[in-house]
Amino acid sequence: MRLNQCFNFHDFRELARRRLPGPIFNYIDGAADDETTYRRNTTAFEQCDLLPSVLRGVEQVDLSVTVMGQKLAVPFYCSPTALQRLFHHEGERAVAAAAANYGTMFGVSSLGTVSLEELRKKYSTPQVYQFYFHKDRGLNRAMMQRAKKAGVNAMMLTVDSITGGNRERDLRTGFSIPFRLTLGGMIQFAAKPMWGINYATHERFKLPQLDEHVDMSSGTLSIGRYFTEMLDPSMNWDNVAEMVQLWNGQFCLKGIMSVADAKRAIDIGCTGIVLSNHGGRQLDGSRSAFDQLAEVVDAVGDRIDVMMDGGVQRGTHILKALSLGAKAVGIGRYYLFPLAVGGQEGVERALGLLRAEIERGLKLMGCTKVDQLSRENLRFR
Ligand SMILES: Cc1cc2nc3c(=O)[nH]c(=O)nc-3n(C[C@H](O)[C@H](O)[C@H](O)COP(=O)(O)O)c2cc1C
Repeated sequence: MRLNQCFNFHDFRELARRRLPGPIFNYIDGAADDETTYRRNTTAFEQCDLLPSVLRGVEQVDLSVTVMGQKLAVPFYCSPTALQRLFHHEGERAVAAAAANYGTMFGVSSLGTVSLEELRKKYSTPQVYQFYFHKDRGLNRAMMQRAKKAGVNAMMLTVDSITGGNRERDLRTGFSIPFRLTLGGMIQFAAKPMWGINYATHERFKLPQLDEHVDMSSGTLSIGRYFTEMLDPSMNWDNVAEMVQLWNGQFCLKGIMSVADAKRAIDIGCTGIVLSNHGGRQLDGSRSAFDQLAEVVDAVGDRIDVMMDGGVQRGTHILKALSLGAKAVGIGRYYLFPLAVGGQEGVERALGLLRAEIERGLKLMGCTKVDQLSRENLRFR
């Protein structure tokens, strides 16, 4: 199986499974506890049917949307994800380049492996910076100033990771940064030597968003300890309100699920929220963003940009979320597996397939623009 034989999420996932060492594949593919929420994120879309209209003249379609002041050529964006150079040596560079070629937004994680400044300089497409809230308030301010100076378009504070999710696949393999592999994990690495050769012959692994502030390189601080020792579990609405004020620009909270929290996000001046359960990697049993979307859009959709992510594997999933009122939809594993199998070429192939599915789906729905989609074209089982 090769990249040009991949036609959908499942093909990319299968090819990534064959090529990546087990611990890395399972880090991407895995989720928390029994992975119930992870599975539900996709099955939620299947409980909703599209109701098309016909004979509407759909020769030209416009897929563009505007979200948090950014015009995107397609209604999806690449959600921030950690450690991309572990998956493929091009890492964030591949994702940013592909996003730019498709005219869409990409997120850079605090745990990203390429610096936000480098990506900002190279690509003019909208860039969000995802960050976590540290106990050290000076560090929070310094990170925001750094992002501001670099010209990041929007801040995205992840609020669903106040403590780490229980990812049992990682416990079994020993996946952590720095690596603390179990014997089983080591054997799985040894079985995929190409990955090791590739990793060893490219630029040294770094976390440039954190390196200046936190010494992870010497192996003294693991990502696990970064979460437990440096991030602040006492983070509350007042703290975030201060950050929003300080940023004084587009600011969104990623991981909001309830209407009450969505309203508070508006009260403190946020311009966007992402309904998300972190791809099922945090609170297992949490509702899927798609199931929760209508409730939140009805309550606040006219006052704040509501986005969602989780479980997206098809263009029609995105059409359903847009029909419910999402302004744009985030993808995670959908671009990570292609990144792992083909770097930039892989991500571009995946984004191209998704765009073609959305364009085809929109035409088959009888629409020429995203904003012609509405709840009238949906039925729930
Ligand atoms: C391997 C991996 C790493 C991730 N790293 C981060 C991260 O550093 N920060 C963050 O806010 N979300 C992170 N996420 C969550 C994604 O941004 C997104 O919410 C999720 O992947 C959406 O679900 P999907 O993968 O089903 O599309 C990560 C997800 C995956 C799969």
